[in-house]
Amino acid sequence: MTESPYKNIVVTGGAGFIGSNFVHYVYNNFPDVHITVLDKLTYAGNKANIASILGDRVELVVGDIADADIVDQVAAKADAIVHYAAESHNDNSLKSQDEFIQTNFIGTYTLIQAARKYDLRFHHVSTDEVYGDLPYREDLPGHGEGEGEKFTDKTPYNPSSPYSSTKAASDLIVRAWVRSFGLKATISNCSNNYGPYQHIEKFIPRQITNILSGIKPKLYGDGKNVRDWIHTEDHSSGVWTILTKGKLGETYLIGADGEKNNKEVLEQILTEMGQASDAYDRVTDRAGHDLRYAIDNTKLRTELGWEPKHTDFESGLKATIDWYRENEDWWKAEKEAVEAKYAETQKVL
Ligand code: NAD
Ligand code: DAU
Repeated sequence: MTESPYKNIVVTGGAGFIGSNFVHYVYNNFPDVHITVLDKLTYAGNKANIASILGDRVELVVGDIADADIVDQVAAKADAIVHYAAESHNDNSLKSQDEFIQTNFIGTYTLIQAARKYDLRFHHVSTDEVYGDLPYREDLPGHGEGEGEKFTDKTPYNPSSPYSSTKAASDLIVRAWVRSFGLKATISNCSNNYGPYQHIEKFIPRQITNILSGIKPKLYGDGKNVRDWIHTEDHSSGVWTILTKGKLGETYLIGADGEKNNKEVLEQILTEMGQASDAYDRVTDRAGHDLRYAIDNTKLRTELGWEPKHTDFESGLKATIDWYRENEDWWKAEKEAVEAKYAETQKVL
């Protein structure tokens, strides 16, 4: 155990998938830190994700990051804000955009104004999707996964979806506040996370819970889209490393060299769950669907000494499948509604 330079941390979105993992990470590793989770508990937030550690060291404030009064109240008692709260799903952002602008942009604006007022350390959690997508080349082995161009912190912003454009907008105001007002901020842009507690609207948990519910998994388009998978615990250790060792004003990309195309991941899930590897439906592709994401993590590794621990995707995926199998109470009640929403627009090809 090492001592933390920050003793009172606000974690926005700390009841969501990645934010709650970070709250557990800090709780388990830094006993001198008090954590205030500020979370609106939207459909994606779940008090159960942190219920086991709520108490003296972890407090939940249910509220909106775009509400300046509540943000002021929690900021006044903090020395750092780690900002995860967001509307996070691309497919939802294609159906309705208001919440994305409100939470991802206005919410971030509200937080950085409070961080300025109280001179707090601010870490902004963002996504690799702000860079748009990369080409892949059919002529490279494995359809080019792991090869070719990767995102770095110098890649120009080129977001494709309402979700990623609002994340990009939030990154840009954080950068401007650093330059114009000396905001003590860092930014991280991470690739696709997997692990327990991920909402079942997302690719991996959707397919696992489909199989557990007797529904055929759903693959968008031809399944050749590549995502760079990282276990959420490695994302948490990356954010902690940047918060405590990162240089103010800098952007760090977090990724664990986990490129795989969607078809390959789905076939792995099916095989692991004892199904035929082709027992899935191909469905209407996502509008504007990004082709490939890939992170160059050199800066985080070499400048800050970070290393991912969960580098075996197969065993991480197996543990994730086991978690959803063993925690039906956590997801079962929502399953029908999530699939009904998808069925409104997605047709089997
Ligand atoms: P999630 O959707 O699982 O959780 C989001 C959390 O934010 C929920 O607890 C929700 O209740 C809360 N929230 C939403 N709007 C709020 C508001 N207005 N005020 C307060 N709380 C609010 O998201 P996630 O997948 O855990 O992503 C967390 C962050 O990490 C996001 O900023 C996302 O952009 C970023 N990110 C996600 C991934 C990924 O693969 N999921 C990868 C890179 C970056
Ligand atoms: O790259 C980081 C981003 O990763 C984060 O910023 C987002 O918050 C997070 O949701 C994730 O975005 P994606 O759009 O990549 O994730 P999603 O789980 O929605 O989809 C992963 C891939 O799987 C994508 O290519 C679309 C495809 N897909 C998705 C679903 C839900 C399917 O083929 N079938 C599905 O049912």
